[in-house]
Amino acid sequence: MASIGIFDSGSGGLSVYRELVKVLPEERYLYFSDNAHCPYGEKTPEYIQDRGRAITDILLGMGADIIVVACNTATAAAIATLREEYPAVPFIGMEPAVKPAALGTRTGTIGVLATAGTLKGSKYLKTRGLYEDDVRIVEHVGQGFVELVENGILDGPEAESTVRASLQPLLDAGADTIVLGCTHYPFLQPVIQRLAGPDVQVIDPAPAVARQTVRVLQERGIPTGEGPFSVDLYFSGEPDSLQRIFALVSHV
Ligand code: DGL
Repeated sequence: MASIGIFDSGSGGLSVYRELVKVLPEERYLYFSDNAHCPYGEKTPEYIQDRGRAITDILLGMGADIIVVACNTATAAAIATLREEYPAVPFIGMEPAVKPAALGTRTGTIGVLATAGTLKGSKYLKTRGLYEDDVRIVEHVGQGFVELVENGILDGPEAESTVRASLQPLLDAGADTIVLGCTHYPFLQPVIQRLAGPDVQVIDPAPAVARQTVRVLQERGIPTGEGPFSVDLYFSGEPDSLQRIFALVSHV
């Protein structure tokens, strides 16, 4: 059994946790929500690196064998620093799913929804650079999406109008594929899909990240399976938002 540490600025990383549990059902999970410092989207890289170190120390102290940075913004700001400072620890980061989107688009235009921090990060800009000769890539910050999810507002008029404001510019630009570049956004996927319509493909990178975690555990020779499955939730702020979203993902 492996001990898998996961962290995010809040509940968003649970969209990755729910995919991890599908491919690694018999492990010990340690999930840290840094909701006292959420959102990360507008914070400086230095701030997020400090949070990343503090959380890594906590997760390692609890016995984590591997750390999944289940946050695109923290991956962009801090994963390189964490890998450098903790060379013995395997870190898994979020990849913006630009590649599958670029391969699948029929209109030749793909849309990326992410936080400001992710869109400014060198990792995203590098990925973008690989595909922008072949497809048109349009981006928008999912303004207010993280707050909706943290407040448990996953559908209804408020969720619809907030989502529409950031999604519509991408649809107007002709995007037929939307990449969810923030781990909170999959919890709004039903609304995003409904507003975008059935011809638009919405891509959540979490299943690919879960498969990558399996590969890295194997490469490092970290034994998995045989249970017992367990999950412990930790938070730096109030427990409510995490528990609300956890109730959703623990039924899948
Ligand atoms: N869930 C996060 C991400 O994937 C962070 C969102 C935020 O805190 O702004 O980017």
